[in-house]
Amino acid sequence: MDSIYIVGGNRLTGEVKVSGSKNGTLAIMAGALLAKGPTILENVPRITDVHTMMEMLQELGVRVRELEPNTFEIDATDLQSHEAPYDLVKKMRASFCVAGPLIGRLGYAKVPMPGGCDIGARPVDFHVKGLQMLGAKVTMEHGYVEAKADKLKGATIYLDFPSAGATQHIMTAACLAEGVTRIENCAMEPEVNDLAEFLIAMGAKIKGGGTSTIEIEGVDEMRGARYRMIPDRMEAGTLAMAACITRGDVLLTDCSPEHCSAMFKKLQETGVKVIEGPDWARVIADSRPKATDIKTMPHPGFPTDMQQPFAALLAVADGTSVITENVYERRFKYVSELGRMGADIIQEGRTAIIKGVPKLTGAEVSSSDLRAGAALIIAALAADGRSEISGVEHIDRGYERIVDKLASLGAEIVRREAAPETSARMA
Ligand code: EPZ
Repeated sequence: MDSIYIVGGNRLTGEVKVSGSKNGTLAIMAGALLAKGPTILENVPRITDVHTMMEMLQELGVRVRELEPNTFEIDATDLQSHEAPYDLVKKMRASFCVAGPLIGRLGYAKVPMPGGCDIGARPVDFHVKGLQMLGAKVTMEHGYVEAKADKLKGATIYLDFPSAGATQHIMTAACLAEGVTRIENCAMEPEVNDLAEFLIAMGAKIKGGGTSTIEIEGVDEMRGARYRMIPDRMEAGTLAMAACITRGDVLLTDCSPEHCSAMFKKLQETGVKVIEGPDWARVIADSRPKATDIKTMPHPGFPTDMQQPFAALLAVADGTSVITENVYERRFKYVSELGRMGADIIQEGRTAIIKGVPKLTGAEVSSSDLRAGAALIIAALAADGRSEISGVEHIDRGYERIVDKLASLGAEIVRREAAPETSARMA
């Protein structure tokens, strides 16, 4: 397995392009199953989660090919299989969302229940409830969800929590249903609205994308479309925080500031200057960050995915910050790793109390999930000395060429085969 090696202390400056959205791409790729005909997706990030979803589609009989870097053609005309393979769903939860489109196209879906992960149990009960309310006969046994329906029928579905995945999943399932579906208390994440725009481009009839109520009027057939992925707001936030912790000055291009509003507002509270353009943002930090409090919430609140990277910045802030994680039940696994670098963080349940320290020190640390890995990279960029970050496979899931991007901004960062375990360390 590879590791990322960083020597902290360099100030990040310059310009960097933000890649296409991981979470937007995964939902849209599942939605592409609805169409007979080729769909062309542009600005697709080349990351392992996208590769896993491509494999999933190919297993289902979908033709997938990369026309040029970051541009993929997906043609689900000859969709054959209704069964998603366990080894792929196990790797990536988002692939569970192929169930709805499969029922819409084939009348049947057999998809493994995704397991939990390091940030929470992540059940799929809202997804299943939605499919059942649309008329699917759902059984759950032997670790699989099987859902059957000759034709799904529109329904009004209230979500107990504005789940992004459940909103996206039900929206795609409803596109080929008979009649009108209303999803109430639905998610308003930019990636949800972007999926609605994509489905409309394929011929769906959808109103209310980006609001808390979405209405879908079923159609008989959908066609392929050409569509460009929106910028990845989580990568934008990660790069912004990396710039800030090094007291740098970085221009983020192909970025959508309106999607990053909560993040940028909280960065400004720490004393960072954020200048916003239509499709760019410049972050300038020239002093130690000030402490601030974070409460993660569904969009437009502060995004849970940025909680971990922000904690790394607050670890060196002037003062004490409190982070409250309201979306997942256990998204603080990185705290102990930051502690190895000298951070002073106490975690109690869904709250982390961060007493800022003047400096972190480089250390050997391990990333447990995608955003925890981002937090460790951010911390290492400002730490005294050298850090080795293992578990890079988690980071590869959602960050395209992150090492190259940070190096281009002046970071002393390389990726190499992990140093072989020495016997001493083995002991
Ligand atoms: C999406 O996950 C993102 N992943 C997550 O990003 C993100 O953290 C999350 O939305 C919240 O914004 C993708 O889009 C691929 P949810 P999703 O359904 O859809 C509970 C990253 O780092 N819940 O909005 O799975 C769930 O347990 C990843 O890029 C149920 O209880 O998130 C969680 O506590 C991590 N039952 C809360 O809702 C359900 O049926 C929010 O989950 C579904 C969800």
